Amino acid sequence: MRIIAITNQKGGCGKTTTAINLAACLAANNKKVLLIDLDPQAHATLGLNIKNEISMYDVLSKLSTRKVRLQDIIKNVTPNFDIAVSNIVLSTLEQELAGEISRESRLWEILDGFNRDYDYVLIDCPPNLGILTINAIRASGEIIIPVEASRFALEGLNQLIGIINLIQERLNHDVKYRILVTNFDSRLRHSFKILDQIRVGFRNRLFSTIVHVNVKLKEAQSQGTHIMTYDKYCRGSKDYFSLSRELISQHEPHQELAVPSIEKKMNEIMKEHLPRLTEIVLSLSAPEAKEVYVAGDFNNWKLDENSRMQAAGGTWSKTINLKSGRYHYRFVIDGKWVDDPNNPNKETNPYGEMDSFLEVKTKK
Ligand SMILES: Nc1ncnc2c1ncn2[C@@H]1O[C@H](COP(=O)(O)OP(=O)(O)O)[C@@H](O)[C@H]1O
Ligand SMILES: [Mg+2]
Repeated sequence: MRIIAITNQKGGCGKTTTAINLAACLAANNKKVLLIDLDPQAHATLGLNIKNEISMYDVLSKLSTRKVRLQDIIKNVTPNFDIAVSNIVLSTLEQELAGEISRESRLWEILDGFNRDYDYVLIDCPPNLGILTINAIRASGEIIIPVEASRFALEGLNQLIGIINLIQERLNHDVKYRILVTNFDSRLRHSFKILDQIRVGFRNRLFSTIVHVNVKLKEAQSQGTHIMTYDKYCRGSKDYFSLSRELISQHEPHQELAVPSIEKKMNEIMKEHLPRLTEIVLSLSAPEAKEVYVAGDFNNWKLDENSRMQAAGGTWSKTINLKSGRYHYRFVIDGKWVDDPNNPNKETNPYGEMDSFLEVKTKK
């Protein structure tokens, strides 16, 4: 039984989406999966439209009057996919366990004595580093850290990894973590930048699967279901299915599925989405000039710091990187607009003046 916590104290980075849809995809691979909802907000439970009076609170708490075992609260979602539900009462556990010895090991003890024939137990964690998350890390052999390819993606990651390391050391518990890039938007250059940062920082700890932004994932959740029943063929399904195969093949190498190496996969993604740019150097001789700009289609004809040219011995130049295409431009020498005297390609613009133009053809 592989026990995997899905955790990151940052809210909205795709923990619950990963928990639900990875569970569904593992189940589609004929693995028996239990998803434990350990978030008092119960998003996984609600996102799968499951109702149960009793919850993980009653399993973990010593104060609960109901005294139930884990197997008593499990509900079936779809074939091979079960869930142990959460509810808001779970939020009181933090205080309740505060004074107790080995409070961080309560879930581990429960799972240790739990011998149902599940292949995978996934634990969806709350968005904080409290006692519930620590219980999840303690109980798991592996951790998936979803990291959204967005602005503050890496914030708090060191703190989380510090806690994982501390739990390993203090509790003598072996746990491996890996980063899963989620919400990757291939239309944004910014996503690639974050991906690069993550790759530099966590090279050997990165899943080669990347989860792209896909509205179907959001829709499935709001319809109370997972992606395999909502839309089996959408990008979200493909991504989570690929993640499930990656996890399975790590553990069962004889089922080697030719998962591409991270490097190879990254290169593919870069090739698929990143435009190929060609470096162009524009230059102009104007020894008397005080300031010169180059403005054109490539910078929305703006005169600012980015379009200011650099002078060296009376020659002004600017290097720009362009996708293939046709670009009009002009120079602005001390406020006066002129075309490029070194470029024979010119066209009359709507104001009756001459624009220079460039044809950029990128190599395949
Ligand atoms: N890859 C994705 N594409 C589109 N929407 C997503 C994706 N992953 C998550 N979401 C949406 O973002 C929101 C937050 O995701 P969620 O999984 O609940 O995050 P967390 O559990 O980390 O707080 C949800 O509304 C979810 O449907
Ligand atoms: Mg969540």
